Amino acid sequence: MTQPVTISTQGGIATVTIDNPPVNALSQAVRQGLADAVPQTEADADVRAVVLLCAGRTFIAGADVREFGQTPQKPHLPDVIDMIEGATKPWIAALHGTALGGGLEVALGCRFRLADPSARLGLPEVNLGLIPGAGGTVRLPRLVGASAALEMIAGGKMVSADKALAMGLVDRIVDGDLTQAALEFAKAEALDKVATPLMARDVAQPDSDKWEAQKAAIAKRARGQNSPLAAITALENALALPADQALAKERELFFQLKDDPQSLALRHIFFAERSAGKMPCLKGVKPRPFDEIGVIGGGTMGAGIVAACLLAGLRVVMLERDDDSLGAGQERVQITLAQSHKRGLIDADTLMRMQGNFSGATDYAALGNADLVIEAVFEDMAVKKDVFTRLDVATRPDAVLATNTSYLDIAEIAGAVADPSRVLGLHFFSPAYIMKLLEIVHPPKVADDVLATGFALAKRLGKIAVPAGVCDGFIGNRIMSAYRRECDYMLEDGALPQDVDAAMRDFGFAMGIFAMQDMAGLDIAWAMRKRQAATRPADMRYVDIPDQLCEMGRFGRKTGAGWYDYSSDPKGAPDPLVEGIITKASADKGITRQPLSADEIMGRIIAVMQSEGRKILDEGIAQSPEAIDVVMVNGYGFPRWRGGPMFMAGME
Ligand code: COA
Repeated sequence: MTQPVTISTQGGIATVTIDNPPVNALSQAVRQGLADAVPQTEADADVRAVVLLCAGRTFIAGADVREFGQTPQKPHLPDVIDMIEGATKPWIAALHGTALGGGLEVALGCRFRLADPSARLGLPEVNLGLIPGAGGTVRLPRLVGASAALEMIAGGKMVSADKALAMGLVDRIVDGDLTQAALEFAKAEALDKVATPLMARDVAQPDSDKWEAQKAAIAKRARGQNSPLAAITALENALALPADQALAKERELFFQLKDDPQSLALRHIFFAERSAGKMPCLKGVKPRPFDEIGVIGGGTMGAGIVAACLLAGLRVVMLERDDDSLGAGQERVQITLAQSHKRGLIDADTLMRMQGNFSGATDYAALGNADLVIEAVFEDMAVKKDVFTRLDVATRPDAVLATNTSYLDIAEIAGAVADPSRVLGLHFFSPAYIMKLLEIVHPPKVADDVLATGFALAKRLGKIAVPAGVCDGFIGNRIMSAYRRECDYMLEDGALPQDVDAAMRDFGFAMGIFAMQDMAGLDIAWAMRKRQAATRPADMRYVDIPDQLCEMGRFGRKTGAGWYDYSSDPKGAPDPLVEGIITKASADKGITRQPLSADEIMGRIIAVMQSEGRKILDEGIAQSPEAIDVVMVNGYGFPRWRGGPMFMAGME
């Protein structure tokens, strides 16, 4: 096996290079290589300073997460970093790509840090249910201050090279060749500059009011997750204790968290997100090239898809049925782009380029050049078929045609096209430029390269792609329909909407199912129930409470009332009228209402998610239990730190 860490020396400077694809994770072999490099460079009289850099696309992206389930092997990372920090010859970290977790901790052990302009730095352990375990919580506050350190560690977000420079996290941003610049820095400056090792520095006490407010905000955001709270504890230790004691406490906390079920769940989701989108049948299949995208429909979903494509640098033609609808759709897109600019996500030049990439039309002929067209019109089979009949004539025969339907039979929609092998489902979630999930639905006749094009588009848009077979609701909406039905049953059995919603929030959902329905609007599901009425099995339990609300014009927030009343409280207040409808519905069916505890409510919701999930697996709609978890976590607000319903089933 080739060594993942090599050393070369030239002109008095040793270069220590880590080459451990794909992301230079700190495996045992890498840690050993670094531990060996310290005494070797210390002993070499020719060496005056050491440059640490990485081959490939990134600096060290962290500890090797795959090793977390095993007994830790020596040398341990904190010891390796201690050696680097204690070296008499200064180490200079040259950062490119993503310097994350243990990678950034190694860089903090170095005396100096130089970064490529596109480098990003972070301590994302909290996202895996952990905190940094190799000195990050002790060294970072000594470099950038306690408040900035807490934000980085508890938030788990990466910072850009520019921000890192402004914070004092890196010493310099280097234009041009990073290695060359690091070597020159080592020769010309590193030896003269005084850089006290971070462990030997003091940490300034933050302003106590601001500090308390910051901690309170983090605790609130955590919504039941342990690791952000552990980050607070670690930073408190860093402020209160001598550095070596704080370091020992950090290590203790890290090991506690590593065995916490929350961390197991988060690590499960991390790998599930990376495996769920891989379809064995597509190995080696080349996607069709795409540059120009057509989007049919300028409503919330259509405009969101257009914005997502423009933000990914694609050219987009929006098609609407008349000038007024087109104008409204274009306006929605412009607002989104302007917001992205205002929030600093895109600069003025990029905004202008994106606007230049965007055109609108009312005639299908404008789609003659499109490589891929996504339909996002009204959810009605006749309307969708009409769109695809027109697309069949208007588009190139090799153009990929996608429908964004959330429930309808895509095989039937594909039947409207002479060559159904070019039709697939791309089920986006609203708002499409924000939500990470994309269900890629494969009707039986879809060609492999068309499917591969769907995955390539997902990657280009930065989405997490999950393949799904055709059925009513695919993976996510099918499970949601099932548990929503169960929640309706619970209303008749004895719960009220606010009981169910509170139980879901306590479990870790941002919102309960009834509040969510009020936000989305009750009318769409009502229309669907009316459509399905004829085919509904006669012996199926049916709850007509939501129908009664709709008949009263209570469609949710947009009408000022739905499950809740929004007339006096914008967040929605429980409504005695709704309670009356519910209790009467129970009485009409002869059900004696029994109060349900939060545990009972969540037990029933999770059991239904799991049983529907098993059916979806048996029918081959989802490839794996992991795929179901990825959908529920990324599209339906299932708390990430619980790993998803199928992960929970494995833990029972
Ligand atoms: N340990 C082990 N494997 C890792 C890893 C880590 N820390 N980070 C990434 N990988 C693996 C991924 O599982 C994936 O493997 P696969 O190709 O077999 O699926 C591969 O590296 C590429 O990762 P991917 O996320 O698909 O690439 P990307 O370019 O989109 O993103 C990162 C790269 C580094 C930004 C991203 O992988 C990441 O955030 N990693 C986790 C970093 C982290 O949390 N570090 C702290 C650990 S305590």
